[in-house]
Amino acid sequence: MTTPLNTLSSKKLLVSPSMLASDFAALGTELKAIEAGGADMVHLDVMDAHFVPNLTIGPALIASLRKHSTLPFDVHLMMTDPLPYIGAFAKAGSDHITFHIEANSDIAETIKAIHDAGLSAGLTLKPGTPVETLFPYLNDVEMVLVMTVEPGFGGQKFMADQLEKVRKLRVELDRTGNTSCHIQVDGGLDSSNVEAAAAAGANVIVAGTSVFKHKNGIPCAIAELHQAQQVLNG
Ligand code: DX5
Ligand code: ZN
Repeated sequence: MTTPLNTLSSKKLLVSPSMLASDFAALGTELKAIEAGGADMVHLDVMDAHFVPNLTIGPALIASLRKHSTLPFDVHLMMTDPLPYIGAFAKAGSDHITFHIEANSDIAETIKAIHDAGLSAGLTLKPGTPVETLFPYLNDVEMVLVMTVEPGFGGQKFMADQLEKVRKLRVELDRTGNTSCHIQVDGGLDSSNVEAAAAAGANVIVAGTSVFKHKNGIPCAIAELHQAQQVLNG
């Protein structure tokens, strides 16, 4: 059984390793390694070679991975038109689907399709998109994702200026009494910037390169990221 995102507290710091940085020839083993290493979720990056200039995985691969883990699958769709594919990603075993506000699909309809499939929904935005565009949807989604790199590739440099968006989201969620919506950050996260992200108000940390390529191994990498729980506790 997986744990739906809406049963997890937004005061708990959750680590969602991105499989994009793993060895694709050993995906099952890599998945088991992050589960044993203390991951809270698994981040799966879907790129369609149109919304972003890269091509990664689809529902068939997610369905294969599903058999190897009980962790919640946190699927990040970087697709121009995600709506027609929600059913396939749900059937494959996704627990949560985040899509981009810049996508062409109708936003309310796409959120509804994700919820109707029994999954939690998330909305994200590229670094150049103003954070206020997310505000009308904050009561309709279980998570918002602030990209801290330009989507499309792993291993890029963390954009610290994007944390201003996290701060604004936290203020808006507090102002409206929304205590359940999670704030996720994705791109270039490691032990050197995770505390700044948590201090800004993020509680779900996506990390690919810093987890899979850590010199002291995956459990150590995940433990370092979990340290930021102290910052979240204030
Ligand atoms: C980028 C992806 C990220 C990325 C994170 O488009 O959404 O999830 O793989 O990888 P790192 O941590 O290496 O930046
Ligand atoms: Zn991602």
